[in-house]
Amino acid sequence: MTMSVTKSGNSYGMGDINSTGIILKVENLTKIYVSSMGKVVSLRNVNFSVNRGEFISIVGPSGSGKSTLLNMIGALDRPSSGKVYINGIDIFSLNDSQVATMRNTTIGFIFQSYNLINRTTVLKNVEFPGITGGMSDDDRKRRAMKLLDFLGIKDKAKYKPSNLSGGQQQRVAIARALMNDPKMILADEPTGNLDTKTGRDVFNLLTMLSHEFKRTVIMVTHNPELAAATDRAIHIIDGAIENEIVNIQT
Ligand SMILES: Nc1ncnc2c1ncn2[C@@H]1O[C@H](COP(=O)(O)OP(=O)(O)O)[C@@H](O)[C@H]1O
Ligand SMILES: [Mg+2]
Repeated sequence: MTMSVTKSGNSYGMGDINSTGIILKVENLTKIYVSSMGKVVSLRNVNFSVNRGEFISIVGPSGSGKSTLLNMIGALDRPSSGKVYINGIDIFSLNDSQVATMRNTTIGFIFQSYNLINRTTVLKNVEFPGITGGMSDDDRKRRAMKLLDFLGIKDKAKYKPSNLSGGQQQRVAIARALMNDPKMILADEPTGNLDTKTGRDVFNLLTMLSHEFKRTVIMVTHNPELAAATDRAIHIIDGAIENEIVNIQT
């Protein structure tokens, strides 16, 4: 098992992850938005930990704080109080440039609406995180092509994203998220704009990244069937964890 993971991992340029243990710890996380409309408590005292390679789903009604939580974990926004530890590092104790480096090397983001740049090619979209990653032009292009191949859309490299189907565009976004070989993938309703079958395909890719390549995947979803197929579903209501369900897959 380990052997085959190592082999296929290397052929797609994904480094080995052998270590186990906790990759993410969320501690007493609270986020209050203050605007002219008043105060909104988006997260209340949220606590949980995630193991390396675990596939977690976050479920809950619209407006319950799921995106807020993902944005805090990815350091896209700061909490009002509480901490997020990634690999034991308190990410909000880092300065801006350290946060940017951590984000760029450790985390890959996938969004519901793909967030691709439509005025350039699929290939350039995938290459993009590698620019700040400091790869040479050739290495970057080679790696991006490898990832497009891995995701079955190599033949679309020269297309504009808007000329692809939704499922193909989400594959481009996944390739882009994998560009810097992140240890953790944060996906905010990645199947939300896709039909059932295409959504399943994208979900299966995330499952493979977790189970075969030992990436930690945290996915927000509205789909109870998909949530039940992840390792653990964290239910959020009104900014607080309602319960956590560990799914035993048969
Ligand atoms: N930037 C913001 N400013 C003010 N309120 C916000 C902001 N972002 C989110 N909220 C509020 O926080 C709550 C949780 O939002 P969100 O995390 O987007 O929920 P979900 O992703 O579960 O639908 C909502 O009430 C939302 O209106
Ligand atoms: Mg949301």
